[in-house]
Amino acid sequence: MIADNAPALVTGGESGIGRACALALGHSGRPVVLTYYADAAAGQAVADEIASGGGRALALQADVGNEAAIDSLFAEAERAFGPMRLLVNSAGLNMSGTPLQAMTLAQFDRVLRADLYGPFLTCRRFVRALEGDAPTPSGSAATGVARIVNVSSIHERAPRAGGLDYDAAKGGLAQLTTTLALELAPRGIAVNAVAPGMILTPMNQSALDHPDELKAKEAAIPWGRAGRPEEVADLVLYLLSDRADYITGTTVTIDGALSLTVAQGA
Ligand SMILES: NC(=O)c1ccc[n+]([C@@H]2O[C@H](COP(=O)([O-])OP(=O)(O)OC[C@H]3O[C@@H](n4cnc5c(N)ncnc54)[C@H](O)[C@@H]3O)[C@@H](O)[C@H]2O)c1
Repeated sequence: MIADNAPALVTGGESGIGRACALALGHSGRPVVLTYYADAAAGQAVADEIASGGGRALALQADVGNEAAIDSLFAEAERAFGPMRLLVNSAGLNMSGTPLQAMTLAQFDRVLRADLYGPFLTCRRFVRALEGDAPTPSGSAATGVARIVNVSSIHERAPRAGGLDYDAAKGGLAQLTTTLALELAPRGIAVNAVAPGMILTPMNQSALDHPDELKAKEAAIPWGRAGRPEEVADLVLYLLSDRADYITGTTVTIDGALSLTVAQGA
């Protein structure tokens, strides 16, 4: 079981889904470290909002694709709150929209670094800090000591032309999630992912700014609307809780059935 006051780290916590996760965790009474990338004021505003509700939060800058930055991030987080017991990897970039023949290595690398190298680096550092926790003797049930949720996407499985950087990164993240779940189960560390469909965050700024575009996109979603970041955060918090103790190594889709429309109408 994971103590109610065990600390959590959320990447990409200054915006969208990460912000909603950080706020929900902070309001639940957990100490929270949230990372921001470029917008320090937005990161601090999330920490302040948690503090104004009586919680404890720290906003720290980090490029999740940078190994040294992740080491410094965790060191500072641990100085403040001790070893992290919950990890949410929400930081990420959307697809570049570039077809293969025009895509530069720098474009591909930029998305892979944020969406795949980032979770690799944070998961590794998170797990290393828990190395003192003894593995469960073989043949006996694991005791939950820590939990990870990676924010993937329905595009981990459903490809889009022009999205090879994002789709490859999220496909890799799905396998990173399952492989880690297998590796870490004997140590009581659960690893899951969520796969959102269309969620109204700055990643969908164009639809937020253009009602006609939003309407057209929502018409393609069987549930008839896009999702809200708070709905994804509700799911993430469940997967981080002891109630989800027996869930590890899976991706939970949250998309209003959008991904089920693939290959319809042929
Ligand atoms: N919004 C959607 O429709 C949707 C759908 C499926 C999956 N997702 C995934 O959800 C996650 C969160 O996205 P969002 O919708 O909240 O978008 P968002 O743009 O609001 O948030 C993404 C955050 O990641 C941060 N970030 C980007 N690159 C970074 C880097 N290298 N290092 C550190 N931080 C970095 C950004 O600063 C931003 O705060 C992403 O992984 C995204 O792929 C979003």
